[in-house]
Amino acid sequence: MSRDKVFATRQMPGATLERLAQHCELEIWGDFLPPDYEIIYDKMPDLTGLLCLLTDRIDPPLMDAGANLKVISNMAVGFDNIDVAAASQRGIPVGNTPGVLNETTADFAFALLMAVARRIPEGRQYVQDGKWRTWHPTVLAGQDVFGATLGIVGSGRIGAAVARRAKGFNMRLLVNSLETEEEIRQLGGEKVSLDDLLAQSDFVSMHVPLTDETHHMISERELALMKSTAILINTARGSVLDPKALFAALRDGQILAAGLDVTDPEPIALDDPLLTLDNCLIVPHIASASVATRTKMAEMAVDNVIAGLRGERLPTCANPEVYERSE
Ligand code: DGY
Repeated sequence: MSRDKVFATRQMPGATLERLAQHCELEIWGDFLPPDYEIIYDKMPDLTGLLCLLTDRIDPPLMDAGANLKVISNMAVGFDNIDVAAASQRGIPVGNTPGVLNETTADFAFALLMAVARRIPEGRQYVQDGKWRTWHPTVLAGQDVFGATLGIVGSGRIGAAVARRAKGFNMRLLVNSLETEEEIRQLGGEKVSLDDLLAQSDFVSMHVPLTDETHHMISERELALMKSTAILINTARGSVLDPKALFAALRDGQILAAGLDVTDPEPIALDDPLLTLDNCLIVPHIASASVATRTKMAEMAVDNVIAGLRGERLPTCANPEVYERSE
């Protein structure tokens, strides 16, 4: 029997790919930037496994080019880059990396919230620009976090981890869904409609996956509901916010500020108007980027590939229905 062939669309942290190479013939894309779609497409006929990242578009034509494909493994918890329904139709299991990045991502969402509220990046710039000439009562005054109201849009595992942090800051917690019901209740979270959450919150933090329903779920109407002192934090996916509406709301003072780990598109174009705003802090999709967490994500992604090659159930599978079909 010929050996399984796997293409990894990027180098990964630690010795994870060395471990994978013991199980298959492994080709690794060594460039810093992702391979073009066509490059992956041309490799598909030879592959039994694909280890990809959220930067790779995995669509039905690509899957059809891989007649021998046994597994697609994404090194991310989100999988909006993959047409998972199409993979299920074709009987291909798709792996992702849930759980392991919850706390790291929540740390970062809170870091963004604090940085924007207390104007830390502006403070750094102020010092570097030689503007710090004295202590002054109004210079770089920001918003209090302690005791403020935090609205968590999407109270799944990461939303709940953010809520735990908020508890330490004595924040009032509003949620628009109760996916982690027991924990949110124990933390004192109140379930309200999205509109009420937006209207009452001092901080709004996005924790929903990107789907057809959540695409641009915060747009002109929703931003108009928010307080003029409110701060919007997004560590989910860029497209859950409507970037044009967000720009207008930040420019016109409809909301106070935003902290974005994710943009639409990614990377953000250098001429994007959001980059001209002092009240918008944008960082390059790094919420899960601790050395330990990224290494664990790579380990999980590799475990999924190995299981898929062996025909075993993926330890963390985004489309478990693929097994129900064959059972
Ligand atoms: C994910 O895993 O989906 C994050 O966005 C990247 O860490």
